[in-house]
Amino acid sequence: MGQTILVTGGAGFIGSNLVRFILENRPDDRVINLDALTYAGNLESLADLMDDPRHEFVHADIADVEKLEGVMPRVDSVLHLAAESHVDRSIHDPSLFLKTNIIGTQVLLDAAKRHGVGRFVYVSTDEVYGELPLDDKSQLFTEETPLKPNSPYAVSKTGGDMLARAYWHTYGMNVSITRCSNNFGAYQFPEKVIPLFVNKLIEGEQVPLYGDGSNVRDWLHVLDHCEAICRVLDDGKPGEAYNIGGNNERSNLELTRMLIDLCGRDESAIKHVEDRLGHDKRYAIDASKIRRELGWEPTRSAWPGALEETVQWYKDNRVWCDHVRSGEYKRFYAQNYSGS
Ligand SMILES: NC(=O)c1ccc[n+]([C@@H]2O[C@H](COP(=O)([O-])OP(=O)(O)OC[C@H]3O[C@@H](n4cnc5c(N)ncnc54)[C@H](O)[C@@H]3O)[C@@H](O)[C@H]2O)c1
Repeated sequence: MGQTILVTGGAGFIGSNLVRFILENRPDDRVINLDALTYAGNLESLADLMDDPRHEFVHADIADVEKLEGVMPRVDSVLHLAAESHVDRSIHDPSLFLKTNIIGTQVLLDAAKRHGVGRFVYVSTDEVYGELPLDDKSQLFTEETPLKPNSPYAVSKTGGDMLARAYWHTYGMNVSITRCSNNFGAYQFPEKVIPLFVNKLIEGEQVPLYGDGSNVRDWLHVLDHCEAICRVLDDGKPGEAYNIGGNNERSNLELTRMLIDLCGRDESAIKHVEDRLGHDKRYAIDASKIRRELGWEPTRSAWPGALEETVQWYKDNRVWCDHVRSGEYKRFYAQNYSGS
């Protein structure tokens, strides 16, 4: 039987891909998409789905109790993605990160609890584990790795992650947690490294590479992440966390060189800039638990093909990039789809 799924942050990068994924792959389900439309939320990413009768947009902050009261009675499950998500911004100003990612999560959990919502998935991140060394590739994050977040962003996500678990432990809520590595794909706000660099390379500018570029990230296609979230929604065990990753470790320098190549530029496009404060050296995920227990496998993440497709998407969607950077369409859609 179909259900009504509340997706928070559904106008963001992963959220908009997830809303699309659910509407395309789960024909019996309906989506209520609740998003505050911060600078990172863009309804233009869902322009073709705004009139879909199975998709309802609600313009609200996750900490707005009144708006949540209007929505929760109709919700069967929550997929909670809304967050401040950019590490660099958290370094400049942590306060909004704590407010949205911790307090906002608590307000949302309380609303779900009050209304007896049957299932709650908190979309966390591998950054809760801290960092791994560069010189020992045998080390991976497992679900048993102690949480040791390093950036204000990672701390705020860890707060939400632990709160979600506490609502299972304390109140018996049916909560599961996902911890995914770095995502790539369409509709990512062009402040994050892949769309930022592609835009700059296309525009003939240099790309700012942190430090010596040796920091390693484990890249997963956003739709593989969406599929994993849905597996956890359906079959994840209450109180459990699931790592999600594709064994696709790349240094930032290697990534940059691939992007340069795909955009027809040369190494003179690299501008080495001072390293990010407290920059985590390496993230790498052991995803054997979700593979073994929930039968999930990444099928869209293999490089270079999947990276090439993503770069092509940004080349083909210059108008989307210009609009989301200017915020123009966000304002338009906020006025026209203010939701219930
Ligand atoms: N991008 C990644 O690689 C990655 C990896 C692992 C986990 N995550 C997690 O996945 C989630 C989504 O990440 P993303 O990259 O799509 O982020 P994003 O910044 O692209 O999108 C965040 C969305 O949340 C909305 N939002 C922010 N504050 C809100 C609030 N107070 N109330 C309601 N909506 C609010 C924004 O408007 C935006 O639409 C986040 O929780 C993030 O921590 C991201």
